[in-house]
Parts: sequence; structure tokens; C-alpha cells
Amino acid sequence: MKTAIYPGSFDPITFGHLDIIERAVALFDRLIVVIGDNLRKTHPLFSVEERMEMIRETTQAWKDLVTVEKLDGLLVNKVQATGAQTIVRGLRAATDFDYEFEMVLANRRLDPSFESVFLMPNSQYIYLSSSIVKEVVGLGGDASAFVPPFVARKLREKFKKNTVQ
Ligand code: PNS
Repeated sequence: MKTAIYPGSFDPITFGHLDIIERAVALFDRLIVVIGDNLRKTHPLFSVEERMEMIRETTQAWKDLVTVEKLDGLLVNKVQATGAQTIVRGLRAATDFDYEFEMVLANRRLDPSFESVFLMPNSQYIYLSSSIVKEVVGLGGDASAFVPPFVARKLREKFKKNTVQ
């Protein structure tokens, strides 16, 4: 069985991530979406549990193929623990390349027994990131072009709560 891990912050999941998931499930028998915190990024807006819920809700179409787990510690340890053979990452533009290349080489140093593969999303998602979505919604904009309705609702709720506090 070909198992892949798709790691990311998913804070929150966007149509760009879902595009990559759709492409990955066509290539692998099982896809484990793994939520980690990127230490290079600011504090996440959503808790890991909230992000897991949003991913589960929005990947219902592939529910027999996709599972969602959290990442504590190193990604290579998660790959080993799950028995996955491949890491999947989305590559949007040349600006992603340096960081992704660095991660591949670091992971390969830690464990050379698996490969990382990169999938390109549809061109309409090339510019899309969770950070852009948070900025748009945080400034009162409409997220419906960027995220599924369930996620758009969670974003509105989150920003409303953060403003009230
Ligand atoms: O969506 P992101 O923020 O680009 O995801 C980054 C993530 C979470 C996949 C990355 O930070 C990661 O793999 N973190 C786990 C810690 C780790 O293994 N670091 C060593 C590899 S650089």
C-alpha cells in the first residue's frame, strides 16, 4: 500500500491545500494529512484541534482515503511511525522553492529512506496562502473565493471573538 504524508500548518486549510489533496489521493492509496506548527511562523490563529476539524470537514469527499493527525516533534519521526514512504508538499511558485529544498535536504539527512514529492496546484491557487486568507478576513473581507464555507464560517467566528476580547 502506497502511503503518503501531507504535512503543513493548515492555519486554516484553503482551496489550494484541497487541490493538492485531490491530486495526492489520485496517486497514493492512503494520505495522512499531518498538522504541525511551523516554528518560523507567528503563533497560529487556530488550535491544532480546530485545524483538524476543518480538514476533516472539508475532505469528506475522500474520507476513505484521507486521515488527519497531529505532528508532535520531527516530521521524519511521524513518517517512520506511520509507515509512509513519501512526503507530499505543494509548490506554488519559485518563491517556495528555497524553503522546500532546505526542508527536503534536512529531512533526508535525518532519514534518507523516503522521498518528498511536489505537486503544483491549479494556477488559480498559485497566489493563495493561509496568511493571505487571514489578512483578508481579518480586515473584513470575504473569504469564499479562498476557503470552503465551513472554514469561512470558522474564520468569521474567530475574528469576531478576537475583536470582542
Ligand atoms: O505549511 P507549512 O507552514 O509550510 O508547514 C511546515 C511544516 C509544519 C511541514 C514544517 O515546519 C515541519 O515539517 N515541521 C516539523 C518539524 C521538523 O521536522 N523540522 C525539520 C524539517 S525542516
